[in-house]
Amino acid sequence: MKNFTYSIPTVVHFGEGQIKKLGGEIAARASRVLVVCGGGSVKRSGVFGAAVSQLEEHGIPWAELSGVEPNPRAASVREGVRLCREQGLDGVLALGGGSVIDCAKGIAAGFYYDGDPWDLSAEKLTPERALPIFTVLTMAATGSEMDDIAVISNPETNEKESFSGPCCYPAVSILDPTYTYSVPAFQTAAGTADIMSHTFENYFSPIETSFLADSLAEAILRSCVKYGPRAIEVPDDYEARANLMWNASWAINGFLNMGKPVAWSVHRMEHELSAFYDVTHGAGLAVLTPNWMRYVLNERTEARFARYGAAVWDLDPALPRRELAEAAIQKTRDFFNALGLPASLTELGIGPERFREMARKARNSGFDKTFVPLGVEDIVNIYQMSL
Ligand code: NZQ
Ligand code: ZN
Repeated sequence: MKNFTYSIPTVVHFGEGQIKKLGGEIAARASRVLVVCGGGSVKRSGVFGAAVSQLEEHGIPWAELSGVEPNPRAASVREGVRLCREQGLDGVLALGGGSVIDCAKGIAAGFYYDGDPWDLSAEKLTPERALPIFTVLTMAATGSEMDDIAVISNPETNEKESFSGPCCYPAVSILDPTYTYSVPAFQTAAGTADIMSHTFENYFSPIETSFLADSLAEAILRSCVKYGPRAIEVPDDYEARANLMWNASWAINGFLNMGKPVAWSVHRMEHELSAFYDVTHGAGLAVLTPNWMRYVLNERTEARFARYGAAVWDLDPALPRRELAEAAIQKTRDFFNALGLPASLTELGIGPERFREMARKARNSGFDKTFVPLGVEDIVNIYQMSL
């Protein structure tokens, strides 16, 4: 294991009814907040009303930024910064999924940044200050409620880029699994694929000596395999929604990558799909992941895939190693398809035209440190296999 520092300052209130703690938590840290939400789900589900009641109960004035897009746009971040500055707001409250929370982080950090807040993502800056961020999570997927990352899209330049920094950890997150009952089947499936992908990115690493992190990763994957289908089948199954929600937070809150280098290779490849074609993040991951697995399977990596097959899919550990590894990859592919996720880029309406351009852009960061180092040509090949 390599050296590491582990620090998550986010206070999490988990469980049904925890929204009652929101007003007091905000009042302790901010006096006037911007409420950020997406295309209307929180208004239909009652989450918006419950959050606003909390603000009013605690005498906290608020302004609203609604209509934040899935794959949140730089323009929404700019608008939020403008509102905060104009109205003297000193906190940001996100009500929604990862897109709304990421937009809120962009606003919170952009508030203290002199230039265009898009620079934070485009130039991968590490902001030093941000307004306090509060979240009420409505979808189990990205883990943004307990990490310091914001992923922002700029459709004008076909870019989707992230920035991060300790000041972007939410101060407080309310995780009420009942708020995810209304998530549609497709988004529940995409969220499950995203949680699993975060876990894979950490699990398939060049360093394999972090037994605790690896065992926890296997537990998270097993939990997704158990509860993803159940939440789709029975949307108001509390146990299923609660487990998915907590899996999502732990898949990316830093615990799984303690002591090992992680390069997020499939994520880099997927972000290019979203940047050019505005696809749902988890759906893009579901297409790319099994093909990436097949591509990087070799004599050196097969033991890891075999361990994954036995630990997560209960495959027979006595099988020949390569056979076990291949069966595990097939299981992954079948699972995503059974959840109703697409199996090919063609199904997402993506052809080969921009593969090279996307591969070149994806290759910008960290691919030398991945489980198997990948060059531009390798990434093009993985896109080709995914057609
Ligand atoms: O916009 P509304 O009306 O709220 O509807 C949303 C949206 O259409 C809907 N939804 C959310 N909660 C719901 C609900 N519908 C009914 N009931 C509910 N309770 O679901 C749709 C998708 O929401 P979105 O927030 O876009 O999904 P997700 O949480 O998957 O976030 C995706 C974004 O996060 C980024 C992705 O790239 C993408 O931009 N990521 C952020 C990460 C991070 N901050 O750490 C890491 C991830 O790897 C990821 O890249
Ligand atoms: Zn993701």
